[in-house]
Amino acid sequence: MTDRVAVLAGWGADAPDRIVTNSELENSLDTTDAWITSRTGIHERRWADPGTSTGDMAVRAGRMAMRRAGVTRVDRVVLATTTPDHTCPATAPWVAHQLGLGTVPAYDVAAVCSGFLYALAGAREAVLAGSADTVLVIGADRFTSIVDPADRSTAVIFGDGAGAVVIRAGTPGEAGTLGDVVLGADGSQSDHIMVRAGGARQPLAPSTPHGDRYFAMRGPEVFSAAVSRMANAAATALDRSGWTTKECDWLVAHQANWRILAAVGRAIGIDEDRVVCDLDRFGNTSAASIPMALAHHAAGFRTGDRLVLAAFGGGTTWGATTLTWPEQTGRPPAATDRTEVLPKLTR
Ligand code: COA
Repeated sequence: MTDRVAVLAGWGADAPDRIVTNSELENSLDTTDAWITSRTGIHERRWADPGTSTGDMAVRAGRMAMRRAGVTRVDRVVLATTTPDHTCPATAPWVAHQLGLGTVPAYDVAAVCSGFLYALAGAREAVLAGSADTVLVIGADRFTSIVDPADRSTAVIFGDGAGAVVIRAGTPGEAGTLGDVVLGADGSQSDHIMVRAGGARQPLAPSTPHGDRYFAMRGPEVFSAAVSRMANAAATALDRSGWTTKECDWLVAHQANWRILAAVGRAIGIDEDRVVCDLDRFGNTSAASIPMALAHHAAGFRTGDRLVLAAFGGGTTWGATTLTWPEQTGRPPAATDRTEVLPKLTR
């Protein structure tokens, strides 16, 4: 199957309607708009209402990506998430059912903020091996279900949302081709990003300490590891595709913090005006952040543009890949689609 490549065919994104501004957070937390903006670049984020789950957002983003790709069937569904609708079972089978996909294989991938690239790697391998011709890859997280709203160090950073892409088999040289996906993990840092209780090691009990019930992060350590891991992985992915950084048009990295994105760009030689950013509007949406950023900025990419994608997250885990932007085939978004179109990027 060496004459096959995996090609991006469609994309979509969904985010809750509720916009939570930095000023609103000033009312409930010991924080300021100035601190959040200067330390993270985030101005606002979306919070899901109590009736909206990760799966609900994943279905909407997945439907948009399939519509954009012009397909009504796919051969499998992979959902990257840290906030599945239930501890058991996985959320992907329910999402596939909601999308009318019958009994196609559907499974979740857990790699926190790197989850989308981990899921994409599996999808690409399935396409290259010939075991699937089309795969729906979704990144979706309702991080507000695990973030302590009273913890200023995390509550200001995370938002809820979903992004999705359809990957299909294509022929070498086609616009839209995905390069090798570089992946890595370092379990010696597993406690750097963690929800301590609620799993098999520490089941929830009435005596569980408050802080152990929620997402906790060692911010400064995560910051420096995110920069170095994403920069190294992106450089390797570029190298494997035979592209220099000058030949690369856009860096689409996990939307964690503008200072992290700018530092990754600097480390690999990509100027800030080529670093795609939507975290100012959506915050850190974990596994959803890369496919959301792709969908939000799709109108600004030209066919053949060269993108490098990179992510870092809990585990710790990281990944990177390259992508040429495909022809804008398929159907345009439906009137009911909620994907935001952000102002056109210029370079
Ligand atoms: N408002 C005001 N002050 C805050 C605050 C907030 N929301 N959150 C933390 N602070 C305070 C801290 O208490 C600390 O005060 P102190 O110096 O009196 O102890 C000070 O700000 C600096 O805290 P620190 O954690 O060192 O800040 P930072 O510059 O590293 O920024 C993060 C914090 C979380 C924004 C940053 O570390 C980061 O982005 N880390 C990576 C996050 C990430 O990418 N996570 C997703 C997984 S990839």
